[in-house]
Amino acid sequence: MSTTTDNLHRFLRTRRSIRRFKPDPIPESVLTAILTTATYAPSAHHRQPWRFVILADALAKTKLADAMATDFQRDLEDDGVPPGQIQQQLQRSKDRILSAPTIVLLCLDMTEMNVYSDRRRVKAEFRMTVQSVAAAGMQLLLAAHAEGLGGVWACWPLFAQTAIQQALHLPEVWEPQGMIFIGYPQRIPEARERKSLQDITLYL
Ligand SMILES: Cc1cc2nc3c(=O)[nH]c(=O)nc-3n(C[C@H](O)[C@H](O)[C@H](O)COP(=O)(O)O)c2cc1C
Repeated sequence: MSTTTDNLHRFLRTRRSIRRFKPDPIPESVLTAILTTATYAPSAHHRQPWRFVILADALAKTKLADAMATDFQRDLEDDGVPPGQIQQQLQRSKDRILSAPTIVLLCLDMTEMNVYSDRRRVKAEFRMTVQSVAAAGMQLLLAAHAEGLGGVWACWPLFAQTAIQQALHLPEVWEPQGMIFIGYPQRIPEARERKSLQDITLYL
């Protein structure tokens, strides 16, 4: 393996999910570079169905946290979680949202995707759209890593899609899929163990 290839593998393997950040803001040019790199992800039919909502100020982040809190609280109540624990969990998620310097809410837009009349292909088209948006999310995380930033993907918006759309006045066709917290890492955690290739691969 050449040194360049070796370095690239090392780079890819040293991306970690970062959940604690320094308060330093991300320069606008750096954020633009990261988002632009994200758009170089592959996408089904090259329709680029990803949409990005950027939240960097406390008011916008509070709106996002509050929008998710109502659904989250109801879900926890339905699960029978004791009220004290529910309040703790709600506060913890709000604190995490507010302490992330920037949040990219990753959305999906089906409007330019193919339309079919049968359920099988409608489902397949939706899935390839989700896969495309996820590819952009991954590319975004790697671009952040290249800039010395850290990020973590959080799936919570999937549980409160409509509430978020309404609270942030998003276009109706922008469907929240996840959010990526980004900032300068407080510390880089150890890599989590990976399943062995033997256990997850079939060579035919
Ligand atoms: C689709 C997806 C959803 C995730 N959701 C969350 C989440 O809600 N909260 C969180 O702290 N981490 C979340 N993660 C991050 C994973 O926990 C993390 O990637 C995993 O533990 C491996 O650690 P690493 O990214 O440092 O290698 C998510 C990752 C993915 C890909």
